[in-house]
Amino acid sequence: MNVYHTRNSLKVALQEVRLRGETIGFVPTMGALHDGHLSLVKQALEQTDRVVVSIFVNPIQFNNAADLAEYPSMLDEDINLLSEFENILIFAPSSSEIYPENDAFKVIDLEGMDAVLEGEFRPGHFKGVVHVVNNLFKIVEPDKAFFGRKDFQQVAIIQKMVAVLGSVVEIVPCDTKRSESGLALSSRNLRLSNDEKEAALIIFQTLQFIRSLQPHKTPNEAQQAAVDFFNKGELKLEYLAIVDSQSLKELTDEWSAEATCCIAAHCGEVRLIDNMQF
Ligand code: PAJ
Repeated sequence: MNVYHTRNSLKVALQEVRLRGETIGFVPTMGALHDGHLSLVKQALEQTDRVVVSIFVNPIQFNNAADLAEYPSMLDEDINLLSEFENILIFAPSSSEIYPENDAFKVIDLEGMDAVLEGEFRPGHFKGVVHVVNNLFKIVEPDKAFFGRKDFQQVAIIQKMVAVLGSVVEIVPCDTKRSESGLALSSRNLRLSNDEKEAALIIFQTLQFIRSLQPHKTPNEAQQAAVDFFNKGELKLEYLAIVDSQSLKELTDEWSAEATCCIAAHCGEVRLIDNMQF
């Protein structure tokens, strides 16, 4: 298992991979790896010859200093988890490797996709995500990059970024991994007590509730009923929105061909997000 800390050492290794005619998959992460991340790695290994897994807690996508300070960091455990796979290259860079002084990144117009949902409550978050993914893509130059649907808006925005830049990287969205009871796996769950994990199930239950309402109610009616349902639980709701899966525009009177319900809520000190597509 090779771990690379500099962009140059990784580039040299990837050059050899390309010379052998092998394809490169890429799974960007912020570490504290769990089965959700590993499911992306497995899909990447099925679809490409060599897989780069980056582990970098990207400071510029945190709009809240406390959230960044509390974000778990466990590189040794992460490397250990990945050591059970073959054909993996781990990229664990410092900030200066990702953001060099001659950083040529140019802001991309996301046509408002970064201003809604998460963007409304975490100003600047997607600017930071787009910047880091863009810089990582320039270093790794993958054939395919794998992103979890757990971060539904992130996938939509990365697809938009690739389209705007005319990039050849294929974006592969991967399904959300959940605990048996339905809680979406997240590095942030490490900060939840057992009681909080139990209380957090209201998120998945509400998403399922909306799915059951969908045939009978307009998005607006379903949204209102779901907020009432959610508020019977103990979490503090930040938003619950039903949007068109492509445009991210809120749906009110009619369902579109692909609709997604997105929820963000606070469980104690921890902010959780989840979504379901209908
Ligand atoms: P992170 O939260 O570490 O997630 C890395 C990848 O794992 C993302 O594509 C995310 O959607 C996916 N993922 C997380 N939980 C998942 C689950 N339960 N099931 C399936 N996939 C899951 O997302 C980020 O990091 C960062 O924003 C990043 C893209 C690395 C840029 O810094």
